[in-house]
Amino acid sequence: MSEPADPDVSPDAWSGVHRGPLRVGEWVRLVDQKGRRHNFELVPGKRFFSNRGHLEHDDIIGREEGFTLVSSAGGEYLIFRPLLSEFVVSMPRGAAVVYPKDAAQIVAMADIFPGAHVVEAGVGSGALTCSLLRAVGPFGRVSSYERREEFADVARKNVTQFFGGDHPAWDLTLGDLAEALPASGERVDRIILDMLAPWECLDAAADALRPGGIVCAYVATTTQLSRFVETVRLHGGFTEPQPWESLVRDWHVEGLAVRPGHKMIGHTAFLVTARRMAPGQRPPLKKRRPAPGAYGPDYTGPKPPGVPEDEPTAEG
Ligand SMILES: C[S@@+](CC[C@H](N)C(=O)[O-])C[C@H]1O[C@@H](n2cnc3c(N)ncnc32)[C@H](O)[C@@H]1O
Repeated sequence: MSEPADPDVSPDAWSGVHRGPLRVGEWVRLVDQKGRRHNFELVPGKRFFSNRGHLEHDDIIGREEGFTLVSSAGGEYLIFRPLLSEFVVSMPRGAAVVYPKDAAQIVAMADIFPGAHVVEAGVGSGALTCSLLRAVGPFGRVSSYERREEFADVARKNVTQFFGGDHPAWDLTLGDLAEALPASGERVDRIILDMLAPWECLDAAADALRPGGIVCAYVATTTQLSRFVETVRLHGGFTEPQPWESLVRDWHVEGLAVRPGHKMIGHTAFLVTARRMAPGQRPPLKKRRPAPGAYGPDYTGPKPPGVPEDEPTAEG
């Protein structure tokens, strides 16, 4: 038997993507003329109702994605399969999700590679999990930890829906990472912490990471950022932590009106990465003194080694 001219993506790739005609059971994304988005599963004989009449699922099933369909009341709808970046911001949520711009930063800057063993906590709604699974592929492993059962259930449904089945590289453990990861006895390549208090998991992360491995934290506030960075320094078994944030600005491009878009997501979260040193090794001592007053009397958090207890204020 000859191969079809444009074969589907191999199911062995576990990409969550299909090519070719839209099939029964697949999810599609409709965008109306005002930019409103609707996602639904294709079911033979079913109707999709909107505020501009209805559309028949049967008029979508069997067509190549990327077309415009007119509803019974004359509304026009653009129809595609949802991209991963679209799926994660429209799927049901238990907890706040990692936004696609940050998931991309995590995959790149925490160096998530095919075949890697990555640990993440908490799994939340499973948004980051989908990007991590895409990046490690079926020969890698993503071990997710979540301490709230109701969130774990939401994540399980979302991840299974996106990949169209149980991804072979994924396992989800119900429990606190700080206890469950040491109990697993696993050694891993990368650890991503998206939770309120990632510093509470740093010892467990340090013990599980291989030398050269990366810990990456995603935190919403400056106080969390400070506490995590200082805890990493105090631990001593990591390189100097690298904190950053990413800002993405859309542009309006229309004739002579070429300018930044008026709306922008001003803040999502801060990211920090640090690399695990080999056992018993510490990074070189910093030659640069801390900024004046950085660890003065008003500072109450963890202090890195070498900072005197009576560090003066910025005024001296
Ligand atoms: C912001 S959500 C994670 C969102 C997720 N990364 C996503 O993209 O959908 C934070 C989650 O961490 C969980 N959590 C907090 N501390 C934890 C810990 N020590 N171990 C495991 N899960 C934890 C919370 O229950 C919550 O579901």
